[in-house]
Amino acid sequence: MVQRCSKLKENIEKGRKFPKDRPVLVTCGLPYVNGPCHIAHLRTYVPADIFVRFLRKLGQDVVFICGSDTHGTPITVKAEEEGVTPQEIMEKYHDHFVRFFPKIGIHFANYGSTDHPLNHKRTIQIVEALHENGYVYAKTLKLPYCPNCDRFLPDRYQRGICPHCGAPARGDECDQGCGRYLEPGELIDPRCNICGSKPEMRENRHYFLRLTAFDGFLREYLPVMDGTDIARNYALKWVESGLKDWNITRNLDWGVKVPGEPDLVYYVWVDAPIGYIASTEEWAERTGGDWEYYWKGPGHLIHFIGGDIVYHHGLFWPSMLKGADYDVPHAVVASGMVKVEGKIFSKSRGYVIWVEEDYLDKGLDPDALRYYVASYTGHTRDLDFSWSTYGEKVNKELVGTLGNFLYRTLLFAHRNYKAIPEGVVEPEVKAEVEKAIQAIRQGLDDYEFKKISDAILALATYGNRYLQSREPWKLGKTEPEKARQAIHNSLWLTKALSVLIEPILPSKAESIWEQLGETRKDTPLTEALEPLKVGTPLKKPSPLFQQIPDETIAALSEMVAERIEKARG
Ligand code: MF3
Ligand code: ZN
Repeated sequence: MVQRCSKLKENIEKGRKFPKDRPVLVTCGLPYVNGPCHIAHLRTYVPADIFVRFLRKLGQDVVFICGSDTHGTPITVKAEEEGVTPQEIMEKYHDHFVRFFPKIGIHFANYGSTDHPLNHKRTIQIVEALHENGYVYAKTLKLPYCPNCDRFLPDRYQRGICPHCGAPARGDECDQGCGRYLEPGELIDPRCNICGSKPEMRENRHYFLRLTAFDGFLREYLPVMDGTDIARNYALKWVESGLKDWNITRNLDWGVKVPGEPDLVYYVWVDAPIGYIASTEEWAERTGGDWEYYWKGPGHLIHFIGGDIVYHHGLFWPSMLKGADYDVPHAVVASGMVKVEGKIFSKSRGYVIWVEEDYLDKGLDPDALRYYVASYTGHTRDLDFSWSTYGEKVNKELVGTLGNFLYRTLLFAHRNYKAIPEGVVEPEVKAEVEKAIQAIRQGLDDYEFKKISDAILALATYGNRYLQSREPWKLGKTEPEKARQAIHNSLWLTKALSVLIEPILPSKAESIWEQLGETRKDTPLTEALEPLKVGTPLKKPSPLFQQIPDETIAALSEMVAERIEKARG
């Protein structure tokens, strides 16, 4: 208690700036394992990975945690659709995500599962603690029951109208309108999502979290919670519009069983975020690490999430943690929404990019997709993925600006010197790198990853200008000293770029180091300002990025257009 308050106070005093000297635990919203990885997942995971890689470059100790969200109706509905068990669906897509993440350069300290025994145990422990502290109570309520399917209709088993905004909604969320969480029974004109019948209301005993008791806490906590404005502002707005106690149990077989209640499991949004803790416990078991350091101690928690789950991370989750005597998150970094070809992302309507099948399996560059996500727009704005923009970004920015500078430099150096030539780093060149580092630090403080990619691209643009003004290719015969000096500086910039681009373009950074004659990765940020190792033999360079032909872009656009057409039915 004392510690939690002082940590919070400290953050206020630090003006919300991230205390860079403190070990942190970074999490990504756990993907439902009811389908493969898509572009909207990357909207959160790529920036989180970039953030983590930069913190490590700054010497910070970071534990990076994720895992599969395995329970709830997202999984059971999918299993019913496919005629298999929830267990089978969960295993299939859990394995997919485990295989997939490294392919896009994302390496978690632990990728867990909310079905892990540690999570069942932790969930029960936390609800018991909430109960003991007076925050959980039982209440009998009337819930929709489908006489035709002969069962209660929790969450995604129901469709109807959002009572807040009038949009079509699912049982537990206004997924097409205002984005609010909906309590069971709130939906207007509910229908069974399986057979379309009008449900009848039946009585059943359920458990509630006394969310209303956290009103004061949330009003104090949310304004000083670090992260993006959308997380803070939406959460505060919802507190101000009035909290309701939260039904934390459901009539389902699949999930974390409520002790002593054979018909009930905990609502998926109870055991899912607790999965962050259980995944940390798994990490601790495997590595000898200390999970409590982050969840009940001085370590800081930073959650990266999609903008659609602010409600859960801004209201339920801090209240659960606080009420069960855990630490509250330092930051909630919520991203903006995703569009595909200009329209709101939607799997069912075909506005989706399946990252493995549509992208990686076609031989497209994982680093280029990371770059797209980081550089397209500010972190809280809508990110539109369109193939034509993708083609432009790759051809102009990666091939035309960044790749062009690196390749020209390395090619000229290899041809003329075969090894890193002597020279003195010019103050102006050094100042440009320092400026980029400043901008990167600012981008990290602000959770604005575009600032980082822009700074890097600006440095490459400067490099091209520098080469163009020195024209070493003309100086070679007449003024060899000047040519050598220009190439020394360009190689120094090349090294700096390889250090700075690594969090965004990790495999490209490794390739540049190789072409510079060294095997390096995970270099500290300070390496960007170190001198070159004069005399190191250079490898024959090859271009780092491939131009994407217009025909390829046209074929990829066509693929999505056909999918959208097909979804229209
Ligand atoms: N699976 C959820 C979703 O995709 C996110 C769960 S995040 C966690 O919306 F905090 F609950 F883990
Ligand atoms: Zn709504």
